[in-house]
Amino acid sequence: MKIGIIGCGHMGGGIARRLSDTHEIFLCGHNFKATEGLAKEINATNCKNVEELVDQVELIILAVKPKDLNNVITEFKGKIFTNKILISVLSGISLEKLANNFSGMKITRMMPNMAVVQGEGVVGLSALDNLEVDQKELLTKLFLPLGLVKWFPETMMDAVTALTGSGPAFVLVMIEAMVEAGVKMGFNAIDGQALVLQMIQGTLSMLKETKKHPAELKWQIASPGGTTIAGLNELETCGLRNGIIKTFLATYQQSILLGKLV
Ligand SMILES: NC(=O)c1ccc[n+]([C@@H]2O[C@H](COP(=O)([O-])OP(=O)(O)OC[C@H]3O[C@@H](n4cnc5c(N)ncnc54)[C@H](OP(=O)(O)O)[C@@H]3O)[C@@H](O)[C@H]2O)c1
Repeated sequence: MKIGIIGCGHMGGGIARRLSDTHEIFLCGHNFKATEGLAKEINATNCKNVEELVDQVELIILAVKPKDLNNVITEFKGKIFTNKILISVLSGISLEKLANNFSGMKITRMMPNMAVVQGEGVVGLSALDNLEVDQKELLTKLFLPLGLVKWFPETMMDAVTALTGSGPAFVLVMIEAMVEAGVKMGFNAIDGQALVLQMIQGTLSMLKETKKHPAELKWQIASPGGTTIAGLNELETCGLRNGIIKTFLATYQQSILLGKLV
């Protein structure tokens, strides 16, 4: 499939890299020179402007920051690209706003996370009613190499943004803190990180294989009067559980707020 990507930073570049193995990629950045390296690396066509890109592709992924959306809209003004699919990864920008500014196109919102680069991401999708069932199936298949692909009503997109779009940043902070605890106990940072990563990997495998609730597995680890329950007690005293819930809810509220501002 011929796929165009407008905005080739962390997310646009990452998606381009992942999809370039099986699709023909066309890039359009802010600055032609800046996208030359990526175009060479993944054997993509580097386009001088949006019009050159849109003319050649069936599907466009819009991956600029929300603050740059109006510049892209200006480049599209007066041009109607009927029936091409436009997929926006911009957080907080509604399907309605996109449809009003990209006339004739089939509009979809996509909320990925950075792990799409490794094919282990989460991709939340939402579309207007004019996207046909076979086009939805096509998009589901297209994005499978990026990770888990799920469709949601648009009302859930702020929640997807918080839980899985921003989520990796919070997990990384938790991992960083665990490695620091290891260093404090005497491991060097490399050993500390290796131990922590394997411990997390193993925990995920346990959850996936047993399909048990996290609380049930937790109680298998914590023996009466033992080390784990002492740690769990401290974790509750520190309010970590509440802190995590509040972190996601603050992100969710910010996503709703940003959507109202643009
Ligand atoms: N990063 C994440 O984890 C993540 C997760 C989910 C969703 N997103 C969404 O992904 C979008 C991009 O985020 P990002 O982290 O990839 O940002 P980024 O690294 O700053 O990438 C944005 C890119 O767009 C380019 N750009 C700006 N104006 C343009 C224009 N008019 N035409 C073409 N290209 C233009 C920028 O070029 P210059 O730098 O030269 O201006 C930059 O390369 C955002 O809307 C964000 O909400 C990101």
